[in-house]
Amino acid sequence: MVDDAPAGLDTTTVHPARRYNYWLGGKDHFAADRESGDLIEKAHPTIRLTARENRAFLQRAVRHLAETGIDQFLDIGTGLPTADNTHEVAQRANPAARVVYVDNDPMVMTHARALLSSTAAGRTRYIEEDLRNPGKILAHPMLRDTLDLDRPVGLVLVAVLHFIAEHQHARDLVAELLAALAPGSHLVLTHGTADFSTEQEKEYFRQLTARGASDAYPRSHDEITEYFTGLHLLEPGIVPVCAWHPATDDLPSPHDIAIYGGVGRLGERR
Ligand SMILES: C[S@@+](CC[C@H](N)C(=O)[O-])C[C@H]1O[C@@H](n2cnc3c(N)ncnc32)[C@H](O)[C@@H]1O
Repeated sequence: MVDDAPAGLDTTTVHPARRYNYWLGGKDHFAADRESGDLIEKAHPTIRLTARENRAFLQRAVRHLAETGIDQFLDIGTGLPTADNTHEVAQRANPAARVVYVDNDPMVMTHARALLSSTAAGRTRYIEEDLRNPGKILAHPMLRDTLDLDRPVGLVLVAVLHFIAEHQHARDLVAELLAALAPGSHLVLTHGTADFSTEQEKEYFRQLTARGASDAYPRSHDEITEYFTGLHLLEPGIVPVCAWHPATDDLPSPHDIAIYGGVGRLGERR
């Protein structure tokens, strides 16, 4: 855990990157992040497993895309660097892969050096920006200098859309990002859900949200499917993240995971 905050960093309010780092067993979090993390863990005691499974999905999906020819990635909602970040996974499969990371947490910026390591043949860049400004992300000189938007891109929105309160707003953001990408691009997405929660669990979570202790908005399978409108869903579709091309047969229950993941491919535009 960190004791001294970098200058200019607000550590008094919870931030998802630091709370996620807490659940993953990292060291970059403050009291407010741990407090929120513990409250959510009360509502969902397997949250640490959820975080690990979400991360493992991200790595399997990125590896799959890199192995099938996607050589450039836009990863929005990067998180604090941990083992096997997107660029490491992609560049292991293809050393020339290029990755642009985007996150709105200034603390990710302080760790950007770890994210910016790259193979000599590839490239990684980091932009501090908000998902709610897709136009600014897409027009950013660093993105334009790193990614060729006339060729397919892997758009990674993993465990970030559920921080957008309004479903229609989240849909519009995804649609705006996809509209800028070439045919053959892919969307890699995960999103928290209450589909497998009991009524009691849902009520506890609602109370946490109402008092500002949780900032995540779970959505249903149908709602999450809407993010993939116009895309061809890769097998096995939108499933609990642990069930997307799992490395083992011994899967945790959907209730314990409570986060869906899927990958979709953008076809030719008419
Ligand atoms: C739960 S972490 C997920 C990290 C990584 N994608 C993964 O799945 O391992 C969510 C990340 O999204 C970032 N985030 C949340 N809201 C955001 C927003 N509006 N714009 C950009 N990043 C955001 C947080 O700072 C955090 O790093």
